[in-house]
Amino acid sequence: MEDLVLTERPHEHVALVRLNRPKVLNALSNALAEQLATALETLDANGVTRAVVLTGDERAFAAGADIAEFAAVGPRLEVWDRLWSTGLPLVGAVRGFALGGGLELAMSCDLLVVADDARLGQPEINLGVMPGAGGTQRLTRAVGKTLAAEMILLGRELSGREAELHGLANRSVPAERVLPVALELARELAKKAPLAVRAAKRAIGRAFEDSLRAGLDDERRAFYGLLQSADGREGVAAFLEKRRPTWSGR
Ligand code: CAA
Repeated sequence: MEDLVLTERPHEHVALVRLNRPKVLNALSNALAEQLATALETLDANGVTRAVVLTGDERAFAAGADIAEFAAVGPRLEVWDRLWSTGLPLVGAVRGFALGGGLELAMSCDLLVVADDARLGQPEINLGVMPGAGGTQRLTRAVGKTLAAEMILLGRELSGREAELHGLANRSVPAERVLPVALELARELAKKAPLAVRAAKRAIGRAFEDSLRAGLDDERRAFYGLLQSADGREGVAAFLEKRRPTWSGR
């Protein structure tokens, strides 16, 4: 089996998890998402890990769900529930693109460090679909309705610097500093009382859990519906054929 996710241990209590599909900008295939969920579950269970840094490479954190796979089998979004249920604090380290499912994964982290020139966005609308892994909910909660609407309805991207300004990221730093700063935050987390960190992480999540769950369910239903619409099929086909889509409104 291909290693779509690589795990290292740069520090006794800190794991570094790297997405590893560089040729397709770490597009989140079903297999990659499965491996990531399994990696987090394994780290969660080993009793040693106290914080995880999640990263991609210098070109991309992740450029979204795998669009080629959309056309073939469709994304299996249930795996995201496994990602969201980890008790470990996650520090996202974003260089390059964090688009679509990539931004949704970044927003699933508890703390986020981004490169000043990173590109964060929800471009699904350009494919004739919409975010399906929490984007409509987490982005709106992070940056507010006004900016979230512009990003989700028009596909506007933010730079890393803008993401920090709008409360989407904790720190925006030069690209070469992203990993060191993320690892430093993870080391700080690892020095805190582990039970307290886990409980506090869960409690932060609960600040909007009921309405978040309902919103996530609605979003997932709408996403799957759009994927099967004529425009959803056209948008995905157009991306793969490297041409502009023509929308029919069906
Ligand atoms: N899925 C599959 N393959 C992808 C991909 C994706 N999301 N993003 C990039 N790739 C592939 C490209 O097809 C290309 O492959 P080939 O070399 O075989 O042609 C390779 O990665 C490199 O990409 P580009 O040549 O396009 O690189 P670029 O620098 O010119 O452009 C980009 C970079 C702007 C990120 C562009 O690749 C792009 O627009 N990608 C798609 C972004 C996107 O729409 N993401 C949302 C996906 S939907 C989603 O995520 C739904 C959800 O919420 C679950």
